[in-house]
Amino acid sequence: MQATFTAHAAFTIGTVDRRLFGSFVEHMGRCVHTGVFEPGHPRADEAGLREDVLELTREMGVTLVRYPGGNFVSGYRWEDGVGPVEDRPRRLDLAWRSVESNAFGLHEFLGWARKAQVEPMMAVNLGTRGPQEAADLVEYANHPGGTRLSDLRRAHGSPDPFGIRLWCLGNEMDGPWQLGAKTADEYGRLAAETAKVMRLVDPTIELVACGSSMRSMATFGGWEATVLDHCFDQVDLLSLHAYYEEHDEDLAGFLATSLDMDAFIDEVVATVDHVAAKKRSRKRLKLSFDEWNVWFQRAFAGPEAQTWEDEPRLIEDTYDVAAAVVVGTYLITLLRHADRVSVACQAQLANVIAPIRTEPGGSAWRQTIFHPFAHAARFARGEVLRLAVASPTYAAEPYGDVPVLDAVATHDPETGDVTVLAVNRGLTEPLELTGALHGLGPLELVEHLTLAADGDPRRTNTEEHPEAVLPRRVDGSRVVDGELRATLPPLSWNVLRLG
Ligand code: AHR
Repeated sequence: MQATFTAHAAFTIGTVDRRLFGSFVEHMGRCVHTGVFEPGHPRADEAGLREDVLELTREMGVTLVRYPGGNFVSGYRWEDGVGPVEDRPRRLDLAWRSVESNAFGLHEFLGWARKAQVEPMMAVNLGTRGPQEAADLVEYANHPGGTRLSDLRRAHGSPDPFGIRLWCLGNEMDGPWQLGAKTADEYGRLAAETAKVMRLVDPTIELVACGSSMRSMATFGGWEATVLDHCFDQVDLLSLHAYYEEHDEDLAGFLATSLDMDAFIDEVVATVDHVAAKKRSRKRLKLSFDEWNVWFQRAFAGPEAQTWEDEPRLIEDTYDVAAAVVVGTYLITLLRHADRVSVACQAQLANVIAPIRTEPGGSAWRQTIFHPFAHAARFARGEVLRLAVASPTYAAEPYGDVPVLDAVATHDPETGDVTVLAVNRGLTEPLELTGALHGLGPLELVEHLTLAADGDPRRTNTEEHPEAVLPRRVDGSRVVDGELRATLPPLSWNVLRLG
């Protein structure tokens, strides 16, 4: 099979926002407790932060982390997580039917974020709480001092304001499962008023309103339009969430799910621009795809099955090579929408549907899906190029004709480096790729990396065999007369670095 693309330095989509390589730490299962935080672990620092997880987070290239939920935030009292640890209350977490010790809270998260070298993205509770508590949290976190809440932060050991810039106005407020779920009109008004008071405390913050929790919600489309009718002028971004899984062992269909993500983004862009048109506004709202991943949801019994444990093993999905290739297609899709998607968070970071797995008291390791994320975060830099792609297709319901090649390229004008990220969705045949490179200067291949099925797409990394699946170098790829020539192995994620 053969596929081609044509790239030109002048044909760009947008700049790669570094915040596209975000992740998510929720108080859920073992993401926080025994994930990023485990006092007494042999690799824990004096604050109880696991250094092994911090090292992997930095290696993965995560730039931003959303916290503290997720469904969890819709019942959360942020005050429970500040002050002397011995005074913090144990609480029922109604979202996940777990018990939250609150030993890890705002200060611990920001200490972790500093060490992980990531920007914090903070969510406020708009489920069971409202504008006052949200404004209080902004005052506590960002006001320099001289007021009750900012002085409390200082008394709790943080004299300097945290300066948290990016804030989510609640989480999945359209979902009937959400604590304090709302209609679009109720949420839109609440988001507008909450944004107003939070901005009165700190005018420099950026605000994300909740879009639909998935494209298949019955209210999708109407939800976005109605919410933005109320809060368009007050917010900067609108959220999208999407999780995908394989159905009925239909791997070809699973590999096509990024087409759903692609359509979802296009539809949300159309909807937010429709609201702009109605308002005669030139503002072009950005999108925050702040939960995305592969999640084998059918294997999850749901929160109803939980029994008020402290750190239950919740949705600790083990990912294989096929899932990693699928994750690669989501990264490609996000980058191809760099003109409108400026924030994205893979959900979640540790243990809970996560690229990093840990054992309590034991090791931490990279799941297969760690690798495409780390490659994209490290090598996709500068401008996203608008590729003209010609690829064979295959039929997969409900997607129609699915291109075998999925690809995106970036060009860093400062270094001249070009990175091509490419997936061969073909299950059995290699894909001969030819890429015409125009206006990009003389280029040579630096390296071709692949994560490939190599005959067994079900291979995984485990505690016993943490490096069973690793990216490998591919020989033979080259640039000849301004043309990239490479062979993409069957069912593979590829990074072609040119410089
Ligand atoms: O990431 C797991 C959960 O999925 C989050 O808590 C929620 O926002 C979404 O439904």
